[in-house]
Amino acid sequence: FRTVFEPFRIHSVEPIKMTTPADRKARLATASYNLFQLRSEDVLIDLLTDSGTGAMSRDQWAAIQRGDESYAGSPSYFVFRDAVRDLFDFEHVIPVHQGRAAERILFSVLGGPGKVVPNNTHFDTTRANVEATGAAAVDLVIAEGRDPASLHPFKGNMDLAALEALLTERGADVPCVFVTITNNSGGGQPVSLENLRGVRELCDRHGKLLFLDACRFAENAWFIREREGGQGERDVVDIVRDIAGLADGMTMSAKKDPMGNIGGWLALDDPDLAQECRNMLVLTEGFPTYGGLAGRDLEAVAQGLSEAVEHDYLRYRIVSTAYLGEALQKIGMPVISPIGGHAVYVDARALLPNIDPLHYPGQALAVALYELGGVRSCEIGTVMFGRRPDGGEVPAAMDLVRLAIPRRTYTQSHFDYVIEVCERLVERAHLLPGYRITQEPKALRHFTAQFEPI
Ligand code: F0G
Repeated sequence: FRTVFEPFRIHSVEPIKMTTPADRKARLATASYNLFQLRSEDVLIDLLTDSGTGAMSRDQWAAIQRGDESYAGSPSYFVFRDAVRDLFDFEHVIPVHQGRAAERILFSVLGGPGKVVPNNTHFDTTRANVEATGAAAVDLVIAEGRDPASLHPFKGNMDLAALEALLTERGADVPCVFVTITNNSGGGQPVSLENLRGVRELCDRHGKLLFLDACRFAENAWFIREREGGQGERDVVDIVRDIAGLADGMTMSAKKDPMGNIGGWLALDDPDLAQECRNMLVLTEGFPTYGGLAGRDLEAVAQGLSEAVEHDYLRYRIVSTAYLGEALQKIGMPVISPIGGHAVYVDARALLPNIDPLHYPGQALAVALYELGGVRSCEIGTVMFGRRPDGGEVPAAMDLVRLAIPRRTYTQSHFDYVIEVCERLVERAHLLPGYRITQEPKALRHFTAQFEPI
């Protein structure tokens, strides 16, 4: 059959409160046109993020009942550790409350002034945590990864020549190499096994640690199975183990593919580095067998990990994201292709050529989607990345709007509604105003900046 349906039935439901465009116009003004400042009750379809917003399964809720809240040595830690190691066989598994805590701990040990950390594309918190130590964060994704129209099957790949040049010129300053799978900021695009092997080889040659930012590892592995030669018959679990086997460690947000509402971990093999990281962990997160989590959270993530790699789930996940993306392409929304795993990325700069990048076409589109249809999305462009550490502002490489899909949360009719809203919006795109920022914080400005229409 052609129809790929949700491989689950709904067990518990949450109401959506209906609102009108006039209601939403008022809410926007109160929120200073920053969608992070809205109350989520005022959102009809919330595609702000796929992070921690998914539906947990019956078996995850059951696992929560087994959570053991002992301060030290809880059985829930060992269930969690073994579930992580089953896929990512690292010696030291350090739980943290979410991905950025793992980043902060690792970079506070490995970073520092004068250091350089390469990545295919740093996610915003990863970049902020590198830069907070005084180190530089460098993005080395392949050129196709910066071209919204390129159909390259692995647009998240690292530019190996650029990485080699950096390691040759500044090797002494590079504490580790990062690869983000899938490449969230670049459109949710996967990295191939072949490319990861190439990165591994360069790291070996230059004596560098290779870390994965592996939030969406299962989606990445599914794309490898679908797109990479010789991988089509393999179990996703084996592909994940191959990916992990190429790295020396990982940072992880369990709020993505592992189906947690909260959680994460830092895992690695090096015993001395692990000890230093644990020392940092106890300062701010907690004892090493719970990190910043409750025992029940560890249980939910352990169970979620086994569900994340099920083929029926991943097929539905990737097909349903493509369903939304392809429909948007048909109605004339410029969408990054191929469609990514966890989200559809609209090229706002292409849709709104009348808005200067420094007047934030991504923000303009995101605000309009909310006002018109109550759909909350997220700007990934000049608002998020435009402010440089030296205080200057430049247009980001792309001005995108991300429609992120929470896992197992919305059905096809929710998507059909989003498509209809977008269709209406395409017709009036030329009328949308740009924005200016009236107030902004020093770092991660997109969360709290205030805007006004121009
Ligand atoms: N790395 C990547 C690639 C991410 O996408 C995120 C979070 C993090 C690290 C940080 O993890 O939120 O648990 O601290 N991304 C979310 C998003 C917030 O909306 O894409 P965290």
